[in-house]
Amino acid sequence: MKIAIYDSGIGGLNLLLEAALRLPDAEFLFYGDTEHVPYGEKTPEEIVSYADEALQFCVNHRAEAVVIACNTATSMAGEYLRKRYDLPIIGMEPAAKAALDCGEDKRVLVIATQITVEGEKLQRLIGRFDARHLVDTRALPGLVRLAEQGDFADGPVLSYLEETLGDYDFSNCGFLVLGCTHFNYFKDSLRAFLPEYVRFFDGNAGTAKQLMRKVGRDPEEQADRHIPVEDTVMQQEILKDILHRTTFYASGELLCGEAWEERGRILLSRLIRMREIR
Ligand code: DGL
Repeated sequence: MKIAIYDSGIGGLNLLLEAALRLPDAEFLFYGDTEHVPYGEKTPEEIVSYADEALQFCVNHRAEAVVIACNTATSMAGEYLRKRYDLPIIGMEPAAKAALDCGEDKRVLVIATQITVEGEKLQRLIGRFDARHLVDTRALPGLVRLAEQGDFADGPVLSYLEETLGDYDFSNCGFLVLGCTHFNYFKDSLRAFLPEYVRFFDGNAGTAKQLMRKVGRDPEEQADRHIPVEDTVMQQEILKDILHRTTFYASGELLCGEAWEERGRILLSRLIRMREIR
């Protein structure tokens, strides 16, 4: 079975990791649209056309299902793509409902790209499930840029968080929803920035489970796998296996060679560590 994972850039590696852990016999095509990232700063029409091109590429390369590992592309192009292509397309949306379902009277802060925050899809989701008006939203486009530059050092990230969230009142906030797949790269700095009682939510595991359902697998077949931070042997095995089963493309151009392998390894290793941060 061949599954395509598509994002504007490196955020989609979260879904590749999550899907590869759950589908050990699948082969993956990873499409990062690095020529057009960041999507969050493009027009809806531009995003639809980039997403169309990416989907056509995945179909031409015989993908049997596609995960849009991008909240922004799902919000702008998800419905259009589902009508146009005849294969399972699994999208993502900020996990605000999961946070609200905890049933606590705490505020839920959703961080995402400007387009996702303003998009009709998220507004509809909030309108439908947030009867108690607990959800706040903020756009953090700078984190997408830092991720694509590979700038994960605490210094610039913390100053950016201070600049964008410094005025937010976290005293009543219980949940931070990572509504953009690029943001998971910064869970260490976010953890340092946030009060310890604020819990993270993201759509990665939920989307991987939805993928399993769509390809006829039982999502409970593979439980959420814990990868201990200190178990570097296990981490290396997982990395090796994912790199072996995946063909990577940057906007349609094949990524190969030692330089890319090294970059892929660094990014996925980081995500394996971030995944364990609660
Ligand atoms: N990773 C994408 C998301 O989940 C978007 C980042 C961007 O290209 O602006 O929304």
